[in-house]
Amino acid sequence: MRDAFTTRLIDQATHAFRAAGAFAWHFARGKLGGDPAFAALLRDGLLPRPASGLRLLDLGSGQSLLCHWLHSARQCHDSGDWPTGWAPPPVLTAYTGVELMPTDVTRALAALHDHPVPATVLQGDICVTAFPDSDAVVILDVLHYVDYAAQDVVLRRVRDCLAPGGALLLRVGDAEAGWRFAVTNAVDLLVTFVRGHRLSRLYCRPLRAWVAALENLGFAVDVRPMSQGTPFANVLLSARRP
Ligand SMILES: C[S@@+](CC[C@H](N)C(=O)[O-])C[C@H]1O[C@@H](n2cnc3c(N)ncnc32)[C@H](O)[C@@H]1O
Repeated sequence: MRDAFTTRLIDQATHAFRAAGAFAWHFARGKLGGDPAFAALLRDGLLPRPASGLRLLDLGSGQSLLCHWLHSARQCHDSGDWPTGWAPPPVLTAYTGVELMPTDVTRALAALHDHPVPATVLQGDICVTAFPDSDAVVILDVLHYVDYAAQDVVLRRVRDCLAPGGALLLRVGDAEAGWRFAVTNAVDLLVTFVRGHRLSRLYCRPLRAWVAALENLGFAVDVRPMSQGTPFANVLLSARRP
């Protein structure tokens, strides 16, 4: 059962999606309510809180839910509506999303119209789009869409665009997680097809290979399960640039 605070936060964070149409609004509510990553980012304080505010880069940003989620969280916090024991949320001062699918970009831009945080959504491929200087980069369920060589290039470019002490939050499936990974992979292929991608395969790695790839780039990596309440084999890698 969803607690009252999370319900209020979802209401606030999804309000702007009414301007993007019924599908966008229902999708936003379903995703923010059902995906454990969004609450974990806040509860566990996984994003840095630079004194000058957070410049966030969201790769494979979909509808750019994260921009609304973080800004609404900060508003709740500042009005005194914040769960005891949760880390204070960052102050979002710049948001850049990069998204391949034009329909998602259109919905994202419709909901970001008049948003108080300077926000940009670039329609393009994360493999070639230039990344702005950032304090945090979030990549949720995206990197396995591109081949292994391209993944390594993206991760290197992410490292290079991060400020010292900056964070990469990367959610991936663990290819060694048995039947849970098989479910993750099958659902992913179906969902990507429905969303208009025409991929013949996904490029997954065992968790230890993801960790090694990040450590080879100099990141300090922390791993936590991130598929609670779902049948998936997802893990969230929290990687800090020294
Ligand atoms: C599973 S969705 C996740 C969306 C978002 N990260 C979230 O958690 O709400 C994956 C997204 O990555 C996008 N995507 C896949 N490959 C991409 C690429 N090469 N460049 C940019 N976006 C990509 C898809 O279009 C889709 O919107």
